[in-house]
Amino acid sequence: MQGMKRTMRCAELTIENTGEKVTLMGWCHKRRDLGGLTFITLRDRSGEVQLVVTPESSDDVISKASRIRGEFVLACEGTVQKRSAPNPNMKTGELEILVENLRILSEAQTPPFYIEENISANESLRLKYRYLDLRRPDMQRNLMMRHRIAKCARDYFDAEGFLDIETPMLGKSTPEGARDYLVPSRVKKGSFFALPQSPQLYKQLLMLSGYDRYMQVAKCFRDEDLRADRQPEFTQIDLEMAFVDEEDVMLVTEGFLQKVFREVMEVEISLPLPRLTWMDAMNRFGSDKPDMRFGLELKDITEVVRDIPFPVFEDVLSKKGSIRAICVPDGASMTRKEIDALAEVAKTYRAKGLAWLVPSAVPRGSFLKFLAPDQIAAIAEKAGADDNDLILIVSDKDSVVFSALGALRCEVAKNFSLIPENTFNLIWVTEFPLLEYSEENGRYVAMHHPFTGPMDEDLGLLETDPGLVRAKAYDIILNGTELGGGSIRIHDQTLQKKMFSLLGFTDEQAYEQFGFLLDAFSFGVPPHGGLAFGLDRMVMLMTGSKSIRDVIAFPKVQNSSDLMTEAPAPVADNQLDELGISITKEKQDE
Ligand code: AMO
Repeated sequence: MQGMKRTMRCAELTIENTGEKVTLMGWCHKRRDLGGLTFITLRDRSGEVQLVVTPESSDDVISKASRIRGEFVLACEGTVQKRSAPNPNMKTGELEILVENLRILSEAQTPPFYIEENISANESLRLKYRYLDLRRPDMQRNLMMRHRIAKCARDYFDAEGFLDIETPMLGKSTPEGARDYLVPSRVKKGSFFALPQSPQLYKQLLMLSGYDRYMQVAKCFRDEDLRADRQPEFTQIDLEMAFVDEEDVMLVTEGFLQKVFREVMEVEISLPLPRLTWMDAMNRFGSDKPDMRFGLELKDITEVVRDIPFPVFEDVLSKKGSIRAICVPDGASMTRKEIDALAEVAKTYRAKGLAWLVPSAVPRGSFLKFLAPDQIAAIAEKAGADDNDLILIVSDKDSVVFSALGALRCEVAKNFSLIPENTFNLIWVTEFPLLEYSEENGRYVAMHHPFTGPMDEDLGLLETDPGLVRAKAYDIILNGTELGGGSIRIHDQTLQKKMFSLLGFTDEQAYEQFGFLLDAFSFGVPPHGGLAFGLDRMVMLMTGSKSIRDVIAFPKVQNSSDLMTEAPAPVADNQLDELGISITKEKQDE
């Protein structure tokens, strides 16, 4: 840059630099002309500083300053001086640079939205011009924090003896349960690589190859419906350890969480982290990722209402369902409209309706005519409700009751502002069921993945009652979001084969899909287990962002496309020919 060399970033300047000659480079955030004086706010990723051009500045500087517009890229040489009118809202608000040499490195057209914090521009526009959106200070803070979290992970696991080993992107489908992204092979037409849903199988193979502690900041790909905390392409902090049990993995994970919160957020996490079994989590919070920053626990009122002649309850009881409630403190003041809105929430979780009761002196409720006074008192007692409270009741099969009341609990907590801010509530959920029955497939499917080990105490149940077998699996939950999960794996070939057969694989099918793993397991495999954190989710929660899109430089939108590059896009016919692929006419028209 012809003799100009940046001496520091804009907001790295402090009052200590007063009197020094510095060279700064960055973007013009704002330019103001005040009768002879021109003020330019120069911005880079560290923040902003004010440049000042006076009538005594050289003609060259004055003329260039008059041409500058927002987002021009500038280089400036000048002397640091104290500002006569400090700006307390700016980190460098006490100083300014008296410009002696100014260069316009690049001109810029007017951006489609202001480059500033907390803008209200619509997200599609921000994503179309993501490179401009990424200039905004809040996005830059998020990505800098992301860097610090990933670095902290690498440092911590390195110090704990983990090796950072890369695993392939082009591989064979891994069974994490989502749809694969496929990559066609040119050489072997009609065959496809699958992008990894996670490095699961590779990291297990590394254990039997003797690498005993592995970590990787790994890209994963899952073709699934997007949500605020899901992307088709996301990043895991992925771990695997040999010669360990659950305690070892959980201990090393907790150590990392303590370090990352301390170093990146200056938040002290006390260890050991609380643990909750899956069953307790469901019974108390209706969720396997409970937000425990607030109470509103579920209460099972099945027995108390068993004799009430309310047809809805009778029907559920005849089908062996349950009737559960949450108590909304001071909820008696809620209007019918507000309660109806909660019923709508319950319905989105397949509940058929929402019964409610205010057990005050003059009781109110949706099924009052079926209730005797002592029954109202009994329900209130079981639900822990006073006169002023509102009892919300869902009756259905357990899975529906849990998901509906679990969601209502969060909705009520939000509406009544019961969630404390700036708290980081970390908990383990353990003892997940190994299998869940899929009505759709008419068979059991793995709740985590088919390599998760059953709990030793439950091995006998594998033959008799597989649905009751608990797994050596654990999830780490932060404020009601699943931050990570893992398990101790099956390392015994016979048990692995039994697991495949429970999951409905014939020996041939299992061999076809996982033959390399089954072969490998015949050559001496240490007991092993691991875990993977979702890095994007971790950064989202630590930065207080509402969506993981705000912590990923170039994310995808709802239909998994990229608004900036317009990927996915059609490719040239010759590229398809090389791959032996032809696109059907209807598909082209879609
Ligand atoms: P799992 O499938 O639970 O486990 O994934 C681990 C963590 O990755 C994050 N995550 C996602 N983040 C953003 N977008 C997504 N689509 C997405 N899917 C998952 C979550 C989740 O907790 N191989 C196992 C780990 C193991 O057993 O060691 C696995 O991938 O934060």
